Amino acid sequence: VRSLPWVTLGCCWCTWLPLAEGSPKSPFRTFPVSDWSLTHLVVHNKTGEVYVGAVNRIYKLSNNLTLLRTHVTGPVEDNEKCYPPPSVQSCPHGLVTTNNVNKLLLVDYSGNRLIACGSASQGICQFLRLDDLFKLGEPHHRKEHYLSSVNESGTMSGVIIEVLNGQNKLFIGTPIDGKSEYFPTLSSRKLMANEENAEMFGFVYQDEFVSSQLKIPSDTLSKFPTFDIYYIYSFSSEQFVYYLTLQLDTQLTSPDSTGEQFFTSKIVRLCVDDPKFYSYVEFPIGCVQDGIEYRLIQDAYLTKPGKALAKYLGISEQEDILFTIFSQGQKNRVKPPKESVLCLFTLKKIKDKIKERIQSCYRGEGKLSLPWLLNKELGCINSPLQIDDNFCGQDFNQPLGGTVTIEGTPLFVDKEDGMTSVAAYDYRGQTVVFAGTRSGKIKKVGKASVVWWGGMALRGFGFSFSSFFQFFSLVFASLE
Ligand SMILES: *[C@@H]1O[C@H](CO)[C@@H](O)[C@H](O)[C@H]1NC(C)=O
Ligand SMILES: *[C@@H]1O[C@H](CO)[C@@H](O)[C@H](O)[C@H]1NC(C)=O
Ligand SMILES: *[C@@H]1O[C@H](CO)[C@@H](O)[C@H](O)[C@H]1NC(C)=O
Repeated sequence: VRSLPWVTLGCCWCTWLPLAEGSPKSPFRTFPVSDWSLTHLVVHNKTGEVYVGAVNRIYKLSNNLTLLRTHVTGPVEDNEKCYPPPSVQSCPHGLVTTNNVNKLLLVDYSGNRLIACGSASQGICQFLRLDDLFKLGEPHHRKEHYLSSVNESGTMSGVIIEVLNGQNKLFIGTPIDGKSEYFPTLSSRKLMANEENAEMFGFVYQDEFVSSQLKIPSDTLSKFPTFDIYYIYSFSSEQFVYYLTLQLDTQLTSPDSTGEQFFTSKIVRLCVDDPKFYSYVEFPIGCVQDGIEYRLIQDAYLTKPGKALAKYLGISEQEDILFTIFSQGQKNRVKPPKESVLCLFTLKKIKDKIKERIQSCYRGEGKLSLPWLLNKELGCINSPLQIDDNFCGQDFNQPLGGTVTIEGTPLFVDKEDGMTSVAAYDYRGQTVVFAGTRSGKIKKVGKASVVWWGGMALRGFGFSFSSFFQFFSLVFASLE
């Protein structure tokens, strides 16, 4: 950055941030959004083209932020009480003009299409051609086609698993707003090549007794009516799919829902090739700095360590690491405290903790300990099975919960701005981390200290969604 003229001229660095308003020196175009707030962003890994999900709109921008296409998804005539979508069966409740909030935006590379799931019609998805956002299909006839009507963005998360010469899969984690009879909180679905195929979003496996889904039991909901699981971030690493979730802490919160509510963050893991979900494990996750607990996950970013960080951590450069942002304490999911921490986990540590726990359960020690599932009091069953890194579960000793919190390494505490999102990239062997704040500032963190920070890139938005940071890190990579 130092060699660029506008820095040596002493020009205020705020103004050349890519989306800053009306900067003549900006090498980037601006993308003004006046009507609809943005919820998600993905960057195509080959073309660099940018897809943006918003309330009632999906946008396609070129890699220099020229708006290329706009696809309208709402508002629509809808009523959240109607099942299935009103276009199929008439709705006894009055239809009202309803916003369609984009909740999931994924590039399906093998299908050359975008998957854009909204909040309308109980959460149906559109398949859009990457080139021009032409609508290829919008499956909505079967119950499996609607995913959840919750209209809060940043609470649902999906991972596409490409299977060579096989059936592609879509893992979906979503809050259900008490409707456990309609929506599983976690599931794996068939991702068909043809958008009209009736099998689209069908469960990867289903028989009389088990299927590729996890439901929140109705007894849990009668005891804790507000119980839900919010899926903040997801990724696949090796043969696993992981989710970082926020959920009501049923051990700290009193059932009568009159007292204060406490939340906890969990890391959830499944084997990609486990259609019966026997490999489900969930562990509390968080960070402690100066004796203060940070337990409300805001965002995360999976990456590889650069050369220097790998050496420092004593791991290979090929190992995955996870940068995370947590807010302080366990109260107030919707408006978390502004005191927040940037933390680092190695996937190796997470895998080792999970393996130890599975091994101890298969030695018959302790209970299943998954607080929001009622089998939590079931004791672990002793078994001679050898548990290694590749173990993917049995029909017993599952689903399994961790009893101790997996702790990350705190890198940087911010007590002023409230960090809400994170991204990182490797710059010539050095890992550089960007953290975004609620007020729309960006902090650049290197070598575990803040070396630079700037702001006002997205005035009025605040970085409440992570994918903007993938984009910003690309921009900064090209600036350096
Ligand atoms: C882009 O991502 C897809 C899906 O993960 C992968 O198959 C493909 O190789 C990637 N392409 C590039 C250029 O990285
Ligand atoms: C930005 O991208 C568009 C579409 O790819 C292209 O037509 C235009 O020339 C580019 N503009 C700049 C300033 O690079
Ligand atoms: C989401 O739903 C709630 C309650 O149904 C409503 O008040 C709110 O306006 C909706 N949000 C948007 C962006 O439409």
